[in-house]
Amino acid sequence: MAELVDFQDGKVICGRWKVHTQLGAGGCGAVYKVEDLCNKGFMAAMKVESNDVGNMGVLKLEVQVLGKLKDIPDAFRLYDMGKRKKYSFMVMSLGGQDLLNLAMRSPKTLSLPTIARIGVMCLSAIKSIHDVGFVHRDVKPGNFVQGCTTGRLARLLYLIDFGLIRAYMKEGKGGEMKMRKARTTVALRGTFRYCSLNTHNRLEQGRVDDLYSLLHVLQAINRGLPWDGVKDEKEIMMKKAMDPSIIFKDAPAEFVTIAEYLMTLSSTDKPDYMKVYKLLFEELERTNVNFLMPYEWETKRSDENTMVEPSKHERKTFQKDSDEKLQYRIYPQLNPKKFADAGVQLLC
Ligand SMILES: Nc1ncnc2c1ncn2[C@@H]1O[C@H](COP(=O)(O)OP(=O)(O)O)[C@@H](O)[C@H]1O
Ligand SMILES: [Mg+2]
Repeated sequence: MAELVDFQDGKVICGRWKVHTQLGAGGCGAVYKVEDLCNKGFMAAMKVESNDVGNMGVLKLEVQVLGKLKDIPDAFRLYDMGKRKKYSFMVMSLGGQDLLNLAMRSPKTLSLPTIARIGVMCLSAIKSIHDVGFVHRDVKPGNFVQGCTTGRLARLLYLIDFGLIRAYMKEGKGGEMKMRKARTTVALRGTFRYCSLNTHNRLEQGRVDDLYSLLHVLQAINRGLPWDGVKDEKEIMMKKAMDPSIIFKDAPAEFVTIAEYLMTLSSTDKPDYMKVYKLLFEELERTNVNFLMPYEWETKRSDENTMVEPSKHERKTFQKDSDEKLQYRIYPQLNPKKFADAGVQLLC
């Protein structure tokens, strides 16, 4: 099956998309960096999936979700899609490295303020998915990708891979949006290392479960998780049930408060994103770190080459602004306003 989607470099799909390199591979397909031959030099990412019987065929769903995200600034654009005899494909914006690579390959250990900044970026990306009515259900480092390979968007993380996504609302008879009823038991969807205890218990996942996964992602790239290396699900569950102060040892103290807050929510509740944002932000206030400062994985050269920093012109134009204000002019996605935003209006 993998052979069907194992494209060689130089292959051209639909007379338009020329394969350059492979960016990633999964069970049912792969992702390639491709060049648009109709727009020379324009690079994009193509996700390909085999049409084999037995394959879940999730690309259609991914296309649907990208369509819903089309007006959201921190999401990738959909450029093309298609179905051939043996495979289906979709073409989207090309992002940079995923968080797994950034954290693993960073030449320096990630500091706590960087963990907190990653937390804010990921929270923003997760909220965008929630705002259009979906629970992601597979929040993990490999599914967060830098918004672009270079430049300012490289300092944002976008959430990708909608293969396990589920709508938490549906249209009522009168056209109004309503919460879907939680099922009592469901098949496990997600990744053992990062999913919530509710997910292990085969309960319906809600927005809160994506936020539990976010905390697990952050602690995984910080100090690791108590269940790392454990294979037995029962044992993982016992460890996930431990006191948050043990799970989030050596993390910013607010992680425990966030975990305790999440424990008060049910799968149908809308999380208070602003509360979580403010708690993550406390680490940045304590350490005086902001979103204009470099990350440990950036080299000085990449900074200089890609003009990530505010330009002299920007500094002059916004000279009355402190760095605190300037960071939100450059990264409006991380502005506290985004987290206070009401999102989708639901009738419960
Ligand atoms: N738009 C993109 N830009 C850059 N890299 C991407 C993009 N989409 C996916 N990737 C890379 O490919 C990997 C696999 O993609 P993903 O959509 O998560 O597929 P899978 O379902 O196989 O996990 C990601 O972890 C990431 O490294
Ligand atoms: Mg993935």
